[in-house]
Amino acid sequence: MIPSPAPLLERAARRLEANTREAFDDGRRYSYTVPSPARYLFQWHWDSCFHAIVWAAIDLERARDELRALVARQSRAGLLPHIVYWQADLIKRGEAPYLEAAGIDWLLPGRKPRASAQMQPPLAAQALEVVVAQDADDRFLRELLPAVARHYRYLASARDPDRDGLVSIISQFESGLDFSPIYDPTPGETRPSPGRLRIRARLEQLLNKLCNLRPELVLRVNPRQWEDVLVNSVYADGLASLARLARRAGDEQLATWAEAQANATTAALLERSYEPRRGLFFTLAGRHERRVELKTIVSLMPLLAEALPAEVAARLVEHLADPREFWSRYPVPSVALDEPSFVPTAEVDGERCIWRGPCALNTNWLLVRGLRRHGYDDLADTLAARSRELVEEGGFNEFYNPLDGTPVGAPKFGWATLAAVI
Ligand code: GLC
Repeated sequence: MIPSPAPLLERAARRLEANTREAFDDGRRYSYTVPSPARYLFQWHWDSCFHAIVWAAIDLERARDELRALVARQSRAGLLPHIVYWQADLIKRGEAPYLEAAGIDWLLPGRKPRASAQMQPPLAAQALEVVVAQDADDRFLRELLPAVARHYRYLASARDPDRDGLVSIISQFESGLDFSPIYDPTPGETRPSPGRLRIRARLEQLLNKLCNLRPELVLRVNPRQWEDVLVNSVYADGLASLARLARRAGDEQLATWAEAQANATTAALLERSYEPRRGLFFTLAGRHERRVELKTIVSLMPLLAEALPAEVAARLVEHLADPREFWSRYPVPSVALDEPSFVPTAEVDGERCIWRGPCALNTNWLLVRGLRRHGYDDLADTLAARSRELVEEGGFNEFYNPLDGTPVGAPKFGWATLAAVI
């Protein structure tokens, strides 16, 4: 049964309210939404953008506050952090935040890392666009636009040293799809040990930490780097949003820059990541830009790019709608069903290991957006309806088994509320 949207939106509001936390910094009060009170207790970049998008349909001022908190700890260089560690007392010695933050001031007594120095799929412009679409005036747009624009400018200058239009990530955790088989040391290996994968990933981060997470240095010394298809598709989509926002604010120079940059990124995806024989895009690994030819959800994400040629979009949609690949009973699996590394849950051999098959509401939301952009409204409607069903039956969850719809991974999950606005 397909539920009416109103009760779902009410339930989404209750979930986001329950996940809301407050913090004080420099005499200011901030509100943000944690991804899951059971597992993730800070503010994550793309989660927070998704939360703001849902908040915009519930409580506009709360949506604005979410974004205010998102930009509060922008780095001097312009990076909007992957994670803002608002509640420092939750960080224990030796945990990941120490590896992911720059600087050494946390070595001083009583100091803790304040924000990660890593990135995540850059979704701030899309979120800002959704939020200000409801505003009659440009006040909030003008408040947030400078910080959001600086983030994209930072990515273009600091994360694209070869100037090919594609930004590079320096850790698999920057991709948003942590343990997708794309980032395995040997991609395509069917049953790697999750423990080994975790240790490898942390050792690579240790090398980045020794470079103080300076991207220009890390990208020279760490061979584990990727020009990732999902990250760059979200980036191109974000730049297009940024161009529209800039135009609305009367900043023609920013609009022209963002538009040109979005086109350059889309052109580079087509030229370097697209494999016309297979009709799919593949992430490029290492400085030599080797294609990782695994069939995962990232291969479909260029649907987000406005300038994608219609025949390329049609090839992607063929894969998406194929029941042997991505059109499972509950689409869309994060790894194609016919890929040997596919697993339907958030575990491998009983150990947590995410993004190796189960579906997530945030990637469904992105694909619905991409499908609508290229005129596939019927498929988008069906995917949206299936997404709502998942939440109706399994609650707001981190992931769902794409074969039977059962919830897997962390419960009480913020971005699953996207089902209410998809
Ligand atoms: C995991 C996910 C990432 C998400 C974070 C918080 O690390 O891979 O995409 O942002 O959890 O929900």
